[in-house]
Parts: sequence; C-alpha cells; structure tokens
Amino acid sequence: MLAGKHILLIIGGGIAAYKSLELIRRLQDQGARVTPVLTKAGAEFVTPLSVSALSGTAVHQELFDLTAEAEMGHIQLSRSADLLVAAPATADLMAKMAQGHANDLASTLLLATDTPVLLAPAMNVRMWEHPATRRNLQALKEDGVSFVGPNDGSMACGEFGPGRMAEPEEILAAIAAKLADGPLKGKRILVTSGPTHEPIDPVRYIANRSSGAQGAAVACALRDLGAEVVFITGPAAVRPPEGVQAVPVESAREMEAAVQAALPADAGVFAAAVADWRVASASDRKLKKSKDGLPVLEFAENPDILKTVSQMKNGRPGLVVGFAAETNDVVENATAKRKRKGCDWIVANDVSPATGIMGGSENAVILISDDGAEEWPRMGKGEVARRLADRIAAALAK
Ligand code: CTP
Repeated sequence: MLAGKHILLIIGGGIAAYKSLELIRRLQDQGARVTPVLTKAGAEFVTPLSVSALSGTAVHQELFDLTAEAEMGHIQLSRSADLLVAAPATADLMAKMAQGHANDLASTLLLATDTPVLLAPAMNVRMWEHPATRRNLQALKEDGVSFVGPNDGSMACGEFGPGRMAEPEEILAAIAAKLADGPLKGKRILVTSGPTHEPIDPVRYIANRSSGAQGAAVACALRDLGAEVVFITGPAAVRPPEGVQAVPVESAREMEAAVQAALPADAGVFAAAVADWRVASASDRKLKKSKDGLPVLEFAENPDILKTVSQMKNGRPGLVVGFAAETNDVVENATAKRKRKGCDWIVANDVSPATGIMGGSENAVILISDDGAEEWPRMGKGEVARRLADRIAAALAK
C-alpha cells in the first residue's frame, strides 16, 4: 500500500513514544521507508538504539551534526520525504510550529519544507484543552497541517479525556489516506452520516434506526480514492472510519453547524438520516411523572441541511449528493425530492422494514440524476459506496 513511499517520522517527547516503534514496524510492513528523527525529549522515552534497530537506519537527533550534514543536509532530509509525521506531537512542538520556530532539528525540518505534514498529538488533557493549544491547533489547520487523534481515554498521568495519541493502526490509515494517489487526490469531500438525536430532556431523546453504515462506507470509499474526507456523524452504531476527519455531533442543528464549518468542499454527500423535527422546547430538567397527566411534546422543524447547501448562492460544492429513504413510490418520491431540494444526485432506497436495508449490511439503490433513474442491483453497502465514489470521481474530473 505504501510501497516506495518515504516517511520522515519525528518522535517527540511523550509516554506514547513507545507506540511509534510499532508504527515504524507497520510502515515498513507496508513497504514504506522510514527515516526517524528523535527529539531530545523523545530520547527520554525511547532509546536511539531501539529506533535505529527497528528502522534499520541511523536516527537523526541533532541539528548541528557534521557527519549528517556531509551526507545529506537536514533541509534535504525533510524535502526528500513524501510525508512528515510527528508522533507523538507534543504541545511544545505544536506551539513551535504555529510560531515558526526552528531551534532544534525537528522544528527546523518542519519549517524548512513544503512537504505535507501529519501530526498525532499526545498530551495531558488540560494541555490539549488549553486555549493556547486550541489557538495553535487552529493556526496549524489553517496552514494545511493534518491531524490524526488525539483520542479520548485514560492517560498515563492518571487523568481521563482527549489527549491520548491515536493508535499505530489509526496513524497508519491516516498516512495511507494522505499519500493515496487516487483520482480524488486533492479533493475535499464532506459526508454526513448516522442518525441525529433530538433531546426531549437531558436523559431522553428522539432518534431513528439509521446505523450509519452506508455513510461510513461512502467515507471509506472516497478516502480510498484519495479524497480528504470530513465525516460529520450523528451518534451512529458504527465507528467513524480511520483516515478521515471525523466530527461527531448529536442533533440536526449541530450537524448543520458542523457542515457549514467544514465548507468549502468540492463535493458533499448527505447520507445522514436527519430528524425532520425536534422537540420545540426541550426541557433542561428531567421530565417527571405527574398527576396532571401525560407530557405533551410540541415539535419544531429542523433545518434541512441538504436543501440549504444545495441552494447556496456562494460556495456551493460542485457536486451535491443526497440520499432518499422511502417506503413507497421510491422513484417518484425521490425524483420529486431531488427537485425540491436542488441537489445534483439522489441515491434513493426503499427502507420498508421488509427490505432489511435500514440497519442491515446490504442496500438496493436507484441513482437519480439529470440522466434519469438508474437502478443498481442489491449489493453490500461497501460495494454501493465504491460505485458511488467512482461516479463522484468521474463527475469531479470533468
Ligand atoms: N436531510 C438533511 N436535513 C434534514 C433532512 C434530510 O440534510 N433536515 C437530507 C438527508 O441527509 C438525505 C436527504 O436530505 O440526504 C433526504 O432525506 P429524507 O429523510 O429521505 O428526506 P426528507 O427531507 O426527510 O423528506 P421526507 O420526510 O418528505 O421523506
């Protein structure tokens, strides 16, 4: 998968540095060549000997190392790589990068190159949530730096929360996604997926039976063709795929805000089963049983995200794909829905319980576009996703 690719791996100072040893092995299993750089703090956690033994090459540690300079200038070192990866990326490294410091080997390499950069942050939860780190994160994203993780979890310091470095397999998938040479390379595509939860009170909500499987499969297929995927997902039963930028949301209104924040994009695929209504005034306290009778829920209409994006005057993605979940008159209803919402394509499916599609592993869809209705045979959701991704790639290539 990564045959012939050259990864410059910066191992920063953090307890998660030991996971980078595993990452080196996994990268090599995939055929990549790894040039390791160990920061001073990183060398407190893993030894230069273990890093060089695993990578089968010398580990670079010092900025002013005359032997290395004679062999290959440091600047050359970062430019010869296909991707720079920092794992663990500490709060300090992120701060240096955001400010453009170049006072050690790692920060110099990162500043002296225009090679794509992927960071796998790892730090204490308070450090991750500190406004300074938030600012640096934002600035780095604006500079085009990509991120994988951090994950939630219990940390070596005894606290719990976001800050744990992504697992080697997640970092590997993110690397593969960055280096994918498919037809969607350089395209940014957003995908909505899963159900939404609309609160009734702090403990109850209204939801639907969507598992998020079809949306996740679409995100995987787009990623595998090289797209940069922003995956905005409601509380789904399936995990977000690796190698995509996952944005978890709960309600339709949160999903809409996340979609707006993720634009601009070259294409949008709206696979989420968004609740059409929310409870007009969700209680901020748990509703209690009362002698005065049963509670009455009043509904308000949720924003129609697909329609809003399809009808944007400025910044509309070049291709907008909606899904239509129908239980009867599928083609007629979906064709009317495409017109009403203003999207380019509708992927229509029959979700009557007898089909077993909602929550199941297969799908039978009809693709509705300007060219009419095209019925696809029943197939796995992964296969539907791959076909759709191929179509999207062909449309964006025009
Ligand atoms: N959709 C959306 N925002 C909503 C409702 C739906 O973005 N508030 C999107 C879905 O992601 C899907 C498409 O619109 O791509 C159609 O969803 P569907 O539930 O089939 O249609 P509805 O708009 O809910 O229409 P109806 O209830 O009349 O079937």
